[in-house]
Amino acid sequence: MPEEVTKIQEMIYELLVREVMTKEVISVMPSTPMSDLREILRAKRISGTPVVEDGRLVGMISIEDFIKWLFDGGQASPVADRMTSDVRTIYDDEPLVQAVNKLERLGFGRLPVVARDTGRLVGVITKGDIIRGLLRHLEVDYRNAEMRGARSSHIFEDIQADRAALKLEYQVRGGDFSRGGASAVRLKTTLLRLGIDPQTTRRAAVAAYEAEMNLIVFTEGGCIRVEVEPGIVRLLAEDDGPGIPDVERAMQPGFSTAPDWVRELGFGAGMGLPNIKKCADRLRIDSVVGRGTRLEAEILMERQGEPERDSAQTRA
Ligand SMILES: Nc1ncnc2c1ncn2[C@@H]1O[C@H](COP(=O)(O)OP(=O)(O)OP(=O)(O)O)[C@@H](O)[C@H]1O
Ligand SMILES: [Mg+2]
Repeated sequence: MPEEVTKIQEMIYELLVREVMTKEVISVMPSTPMSDLREILRAKRISGTPVVEDGRLVGMISIEDFIKWLFDGGQASPVADRMTSDVRTIYDDEPLVQAVNKLERLGFGRLPVVARDTGRLVGVITKGDIIRGLLRHLEVDYRNAEMRGARSSHIFEDIQADRAALKLEYQVRGGDFSRGGASAVRLKTTLLRLGIDPQTTRRAAVAAYEAEMNLIVFTEGGCIRVEVEPGIVRLLAEDDGPGIPDVERAMQPGFSTAPDWVRELGFGAGMGLPNIKKCADRLRIDSVVGRGTRLEAEILMERQGEPERDSAQTRA
């Protein structure tokens, strides 16, 4: 997969922090009472937030600071007394690679973003923002590639002629968020190269992405197999993880057992399986608690001249 790595590396250098950061910053004031913090963090599902006075960043306050405050007796006190004033920030015009490095080096979950000229807080960047930003831009990039060249190879026509199936296989490691989406991206490139229509490709890539993220989040890892046959793309995601106790319930939009730290990264909306369902013409999930899960999705290829079906979208 050397090509995709290069693409992502290139993007990490090209994209600026302000292009992927979260702009609606939730912040508190130095005068905000510590006792209000729990509710603010809980309601917004965040583990820390910038402290701002007149648009200027004066500190950061985290859930750890809050716990420490409780531990010390929880006396009435303003955020100003418990916050970290020595804040590490990043400028909005820095390349993404700087944010990646800083987050990694400092072991922080988030960095406040300030405008270089005014010193004002303009956003916050998390690892989740970075991953989502990269995926979004990869998508745009491939769209452009699709437009540039209808010069896809004829390999797929050969497959059709042979009535043979092409099999692709991707191993996914559990917990490896740094490679989240990597298999789906590779699949997408491969399908496009095979000359498979963009709509079918997109559906398969979205379904693969969601299946892949579930392997990463909920299992020790697993395997995604894709079979391309004339007229159909069949996707199989298998793991021997914890299994799903109630598949019907797991299929409900919004149902999620993702822990808070996963939600921090921007996942856990409970939309993965529903999204796969939208993309697929047929979906089957077999799961045994304690044994593992097998998800099979079939995507029928768009026929020439057929109007595009209303498609599920890549979440970003
Ligand atoms: N491979 C799996 N192994 C075990 N449990 C799973 C697996 N895939 C899904 N689940 C369970 O099904 C639930 C719903 O999955 P779904 O993908 O719809 O949402 P999510 O992953 O929690 O959030 P999102 O996909 O929106 O980030 C999960 O929260 C989890 O409990
Ligand atoms: Mg999911």
